[in-house]
Amino acid sequence: MTSAQLFNGSPLDSSIWRICLCGIFGCLLHSGNAAPIIHSGLKQLEYRGYDSVGVATINDKGLFLKKDAGKIDEVHAMLDLDDLPGSIGIGHTRWATHGAPLKINAHPHTDCSQRIAVVHNGIIENFSILKETLLNKEHEFVSRTDTEVIPHLIEEEIIAGANLEDAVRTAVRQLEGSYALAVISAEEKDKIVCVRNQSPLIIGESVNGLFFSSDIPALLPHTNKVVYLENGEMAVLSREGLVIKRIEDGSIVSRKLTELSLTMEMAQKKGYPHFMLKEIYEQPETLGNALRLQRNYLDLIATFLDRAEELYLVACGTSYNACLAGSYMFSSLCNLATIPVIASEFIDQYGGAVGIQSTVLALSQSGETADVLHAIDYSRYHAATILGLTNTLGSTLTRVSRAYVCQQTGPEIGVAASKTYTGQLIVMAQLALRLSKIRGKVSQDAIDELEARLAQIPDVVDKIINGQAERVKEIAKKYSDARCYYFLGRGISNSTAAEGRLKLLELAYIPSIAYPAGESKHGPISLIEKGFPVVFICPRDSTRKAVISNIMEMKARGASIICILDETDKEMMDLADDYVPIPTNIPEILSPIPYSVPLQLLAYYSSVEKGIDPDQPRNLAKSVTVL
Ligand code: AGP
Repeated sequence: MTSAQLFNGSPLDSSIWRICLCGIFGCLLHSGNAAPIIHSGLKQLEYRGYDSVGVATINDKGLFLKKDAGKIDEVHAMLDLDDLPGSIGIGHTRWATHGAPLKINAHPHTDCSQRIAVVHNGIIENFSILKETLLNKEHEFVSRTDTEVIPHLIEEEIIAGANLEDAVRTAVRQLEGSYALAVISAEEKDKIVCVRNQSPLIIGESVNGLFFSSDIPALLPHTNKVVYLENGEMAVLSREGLVIKRIEDGSIVSRKLTELSLTMEMAQKKGYPHFMLKEIYEQPETLGNALRLQRNYLDLIATFLDRAEELYLVACGTSYNACLAGSYMFSSLCNLATIPVIASEFIDQYGGAVGIQSTVLALSQSGETADVLHAIDYSRYHAATILGLTNTLGSTLTRVSRAYVCQQTGPEIGVAASKTYTGQLIVMAQLALRLSKIRGKVSQDAIDELEARLAQIPDVVDKIINGQAERVKEIAKKYSDARCYYFLGRGISNSTAAEGRLKLLELAYIPSIAYPAGESKHGPISLIEKGFPVVFICPRDSTRKAVISNIMEMKARGASIICILDETDKEMMDLADDYVPIPTNIPEILSPIPYSVPLQLLAYYSSVEKGIDPDQPRNLAKSVTVL
């Protein structure tokens, strides 16, 4: 089954499922006001991002715009997003990557004259260079976003005499990065110009008008007749109809409308039965996003890490397992000893030692976990330096950190962390590589080699998900009645074992125990009896030989051995009762990223096999905001 095939087998355009981090929607109606339609369209896209929202419309009196920080319902209650005149408009719901979720950073963004408005989904990688040029031409900027350069670039072209369509085309050809955007102008009141490069953009057509959207759910209430924009294409929506052109040369593209047979819920889950499975399948994309972080943020954190006299890695749950993996990365690449600590134990365990010499790197995808914030409060009170790694810009963690980096994984709806975990791991690896460069502990060749491998990780994960899901499903089925599972690993795979354990117990309610494999002889092995499932994380690395002896010890006592192993490791395959092969040549310190993916699938399929809802496991919350 490929990631782009709906579970009832009908094909979907996989390129449209590229994940980016906001939702844009707009329409050109033959009659009536656009604003209420845009408002409800954005509500359908709220699961993509929900920290600020805005709508802009045009009519013969000009351009009208309302926007603010907050969830759509909160902003609507304050500003009434339905109350803007005009049958043409654009809207945006945001998941901040550049610029905190404040009103000034909310979309739409405008030019100096406030007669051009733009909504954008994606990341403009060269925005700071473009902004500098525009500032030198005396353009005035009000936000800290990457997006705001776009209306000013368009303004430059219009001042030079271009019409809106040509101005947009010239402007976007200067952009680097991913973008789906829509533009309206008070000068040309009868059209919307849309552009797509990487980020998703779909056009819908109905008897009432034309619509554009980042995603299918928002279009379905209006039409199921859609056309997908491809990379490098722009669309002009006007009273005359829809015209698609190539940005490169302006040549016209003819493409038929596709008729969709989807329900709203199916569309939000992109055809997957659960958000968790959708989020597991999104990892090749989200890992790609996490590899496109602003270098200056990574360098800043690495500089602080380099100065740290003692470094605590503090978090809870899955984020703590990322800290554990990070401690192996910092040690092997930077000769830096770090202390991974479960946040709720931090004060009792290390409170007495924390002081001005301490640095705390806190990991929290939500950025709101109370135990983490409590540990940070205590540390700040004792003059420690606080650094943060989060998935939520504008969260409390970003406000209490001296410096932070946002992993750009996008919203995660499933309660159990999956894509945010691998996102944390790939950011920790990038930080360790940067610090290793600063400290000169590893040769430049070795660093270059590791960076080359790191860049391949999204494809490696794509291969695992699309090649091994069925195999993992069979294994989950085979052991779904198990009374208990063991997860064992050595070295950095110890963290992968811990994550495998956490996923299985929180999703399938199967009691699971994780141990450093070497520790299993010191007690845990007493539980082993015939058929007891033991999952070994065994990449082809420095721990392999020792892991083989641990496997032999378990096998001798009747355990069923399940190995997550290197696809070339025939010897290990022969030892295992079941195994999941992972593409070969994964550097040891990067192995937790690909090797944890089959464990996410194992937990997911075990929970489905047991009739449990993997998106809403009992007794759990997505963000634990109580101590
Ligand atoms: C993991 O699947 C759980 N949802 C939970 O353990 C989670 O990792 C923990 O609550 C930490 O959340 P945070 O990353 O938002 O701080």
